[in-house]
Amino acid sequence: MNIHDFIRCKQRNQKISMITCYDYGFAKIIQGTPIDLILVGDSVAMTVHGYPNTLSATVDMMVMHTQAVVRGAPSKFVVGDLPFMSYRKGLKSAMQAVEKIMRAGASAIKLEGCEGNLKLIQHIVESGVPVMGHIGLMPQSVFSLGGYKVQGKDNNSQQKLLEQALALQQAGCFSVVLECVTEEVAQHISEKLTIPTIGIGAGRYVDGQVLVLQDLLGLNSDFKPKFVKTYLSGEQLVSEAINRYHQEVVAEVFPEPKNCFMLKAVS
Ligand code: KIV
Repeated sequence: MNIHDFIRCKQRNQKISMITCYDYGFAKIIQGTPIDLILVGDSVAMTVHGYPNTLSATVDMMVMHTQAVVRGAPSKFVVGDLPFMSYRKGLKSAMQAVEKIMRAGASAIKLEGCEGNLKLIQHIVESGVPVMGHIGLMPQSVFSLGGYKVQGKDNNSQQKLLEQALALQQAGCFSVVLECVTEEVAQHISEKLTIPTIGIGAGRYVDGQVLVLQDLLGLNSDFKPKFVKTYLSGEQLVSEAINRYHQEVVAEVFPEPKNCFMLKAVS
């Protein structure tokens, strides 16, 4: 898949599936699935590194995880997130961050927000790098948004979201993530745009969906927002397997002869 395929998907009303991934092992599994895009999101700071929010993600962190994912899923379209502040300190350092993430193997970058970013987006696109926008709930702005809240509830913010989405499209974004936006607003925006919208907590009428891998695998039981669907009881299954291993070690059930290297074959 490439950026033109994603736009064709929208034209054909074919939904796009995106999933986050941060490491080689899961990327190898995703490589064998029909998932359309992988996002190496700055949510890695929370899901993998245990920080309370995404503000701790750095360019170096994103580069390392992007490299691992691309090694595991070499033929997938991988989007690398530009982390907090990496694109807000001037064109030169923003472009250095973009360059590092693209050289790590990403096929595109994603950045949050519209105001103050449009010229930069245009410059990145003109430099040959596809850009995915991200509006609605923007976790990098969690303190100015006053928390993780659904966006687009009143007329003003609905109008603003539409204007932002149109401005991102005009600046050259090939798609836009709509995070935690009311379904009606996400639908309206999706109908107005020619580029695909990818929703997370944005309801049914967007052009594609994205979920955090750990959430859909049920690996994070502390986090169960309404918009997440859990497809596996991952935490329970992993914990059961580790418990069984522990019990077999203390009961001397594991290792069995078949797990051992022996000088002589056991009859
Ligand atoms: O970092 C991330 O996981 C994201 C998704 C929530 C879209 O930006």
